[in-house]
Amino acid sequence: MSSNSQVVGSYSMQQPSGSAISNPCVMVIFGASGDLTKRLLVPALYNLACDGLLNPHFAVLGTAMDDLTTEQFRARMNQDILQFHTRPAFEKVAWDDLVSRFHYLPGGFAELKVFEALKAKVAELNSQYQCQGNVLFYFATAPRFFGLLCDNLFKAGFREPPGWKRIIVEKPFGTDLKSALKLNEEILAHWTEDQIYRVDHYLGKETVQNLLTFRFSNGMFEPLWNKNYIDNIQFNVSEAVDVEGRGGYYDQSGVLRDMMQNHMFQMLAYLCMEVPGSFASDAIRNEKAKLLQAARVYSPAEVARYTVRGQYGPLYEAGKVVKPGYRQERNVDPESKTETYAAMRVHVDNWRWEGVPIYLRSGKALWKRGTEIVVEFKKSPEALFRNTHVEKIGANRLIFHIQPYQGIEIQFQAKIPGPLLYIQPVHMRFGYGDAFKASRYTGYEVMIYSCSLGDGTLFSRGDLVEAAWRVAQPLLDYWKATPAEFPNYERNGWGPQAAGELIKRDGRTWHEVVTEGLLREVDLFKDGDVLYLSQVIMALRPKQAAQGDMIIKKGDVGNEMYLLVRGEVEVLDDAGNVTGTLKEGAAFGEIAILLSKPRQVSVRCKTACDLFVLDKTPFLRILHDHQQFVESVCQIAKERYNLTLDPKALLAQL
Ligand code: BG6
Repeated sequence: MSSNSQVVGSYSMQQPSGSAISNPCVMVIFGASGDLTKRLLVPALYNLACDGLLNPHFAVLGTAMDDLTTEQFRARMNQDILQFHTRPAFEKVAWDDLVSRFHYLPGGFAELKVFEALKAKVAELNSQYQCQGNVLFYFATAPRFFGLLCDNLFKAGFREPPGWKRIIVEKPFGTDLKSALKLNEEILAHWTEDQIYRVDHYLGKETVQNLLTFRFSNGMFEPLWNKNYIDNIQFNVSEAVDVEGRGGYYDQSGVLRDMMQNHMFQMLAYLCMEVPGSFASDAIRNEKAKLLQAARVYSPAEVARYTVRGQYGPLYEAGKVVKPGYRQERNVDPESKTETYAAMRVHVDNWRWEGVPIYLRSGKALWKRGTEIVVEFKKSPEALFRNTHVEKIGANRLIFHIQPYQGIEIQFQAKIPGPLLYIQPVHMRFGYGDAFKASRYTGYEVMIYSCSLGDGTLFSRGDLVEAAWRVAQPLLDYWKATPAEFPNYERNGWGPQAAGELIKRDGRTWHEVVTEGLLREVDLFKDGDVLYLSQVIMALRPKQAAQGDMIIKKGDVGNEMYLLVRGEVEVLDDAGNVTGTLKEGAAFGEIAILLSKPRQVSVRCKTACDLFVLDKTPFLRILHDHQQFVESVCQIAKERYNLTLDPKALLAQL
């Protein structure tokens, strides 16, 4: 291996063919009959094989309780790979070669004699495939076996030379600080830290790995990367899925353990750490650990002030439950206090970040799937623009789109073409799909590959895991000790209202990333062209409203129109009678702006609602630029209020 390819495994994976391949080894998978093996590990090995990155001196030895022969194990994998491979077409030759290297030995993890049998089998495979004595152990099992496995591997003499021995440990790594400390102690009793590779699959995501590359290979951002220029940072991991039948696991976990303490803290560390001395594994991991060690460990009062938790309730349609709430999910306690949503402000009290609010939020059963990091810079002074038509200047934002859309976006202000000085927020966007061949990877390829090279960059070190638990622990303690009013958010929305209040208290709002796909779900925009949608996206701002809140009051001046993302609003006449109801996907409030008249009706939230607001100035500008928008608005006026408007006349007056 060249020294460069040792440094960061992910780099090597992107090299053209002829570059480094993985090191020879026997890979022993504990839990080989389970889900992880068939869904992710084997498809990842298959991708490595297809891309010519797997060393020919390689074999797999699967083991689990299931009483299978090698032939039966291979037959299962032959079936499963057809379902779970991620390539555009199945490459049979590569698969046949790979599966011929798969072997299986049944056994329980508590019996030492099983490990002795494993040792003999590994020795046999080692000489058959000439693996130089290297063994990679993959613990794809429940965490309660990790300590036991380490112990038995040691007792069976697996540490002995020749070759390297490395252990990949799946998540979750502990369920709280105490258990994580104990687990580290058990694992490190017989093995050294450089033999342990703790998986966090977020670190296998290209867009997450690119956070470091982006920061440190582009001269223009790092000088601004501190409290002098950055106003706040927001990490958002929204999941549209619910617990998907994993209630038994999830009810013992909750989003803090499931997403924040691990995946989100990893991203936080990458985004905010100091510049490492090099891209060497420990240089990076030192800085990550230091960053998390600088995050404030909250007192109970601070947990109450800086965190919010939520749990989703059922989804109703016409008064009937159409999807269960969390407490009605299978294997979930009907009185469960487990949080399916959390938001928090993190304080990183070091020289770089002191005073910069860092917000994290994540939840299940939300309005969209999307992971984004929004870095919001301090605004430029508005005073310069007095006596012009500029009303307000927005912040510059740098947005890392982690998934499902993968890209990086910069938002800034530009002058609207024309003789007068008007400003409009605009953006520049780099999409992975436009610059690179789309990745076919599961995220596990780079893990297996870089572990075989002895590169721990993409794995969590013990000190980092412990530092992350130290930050999470007070939240676990406080939440356990204080009652929560659950459920407190509805499916398909933005989560509990308290999360909006958490950030609003600091004079800020969550930046909701809207994609063209999401906007097309609103009738008004469903056939919109790219320019039209992009102008609308840049102009929207989010608003949450509680049941009973009045969104529009008859007689008021109309300065905003609304898009209803979730919930229902009712339209009221003069006497307060309900004359109509609008649901998700509806737009309202545009007519008063259009006709410059006071509001004709009142609109009140029938349920809690999540809305986007489009202010008058951008609304008129978009109308002006897009005849299509004018026509849709006229159509709504006709259908909803029986108002006949002439699109041509309207356009002429804009
Ligand atoms: C896992 C969690 O670690 O990450 C799941 O256990 C969650 O609950 C998943 O859905 C999210 O991963 P991704 O890659 O889809 O963002």
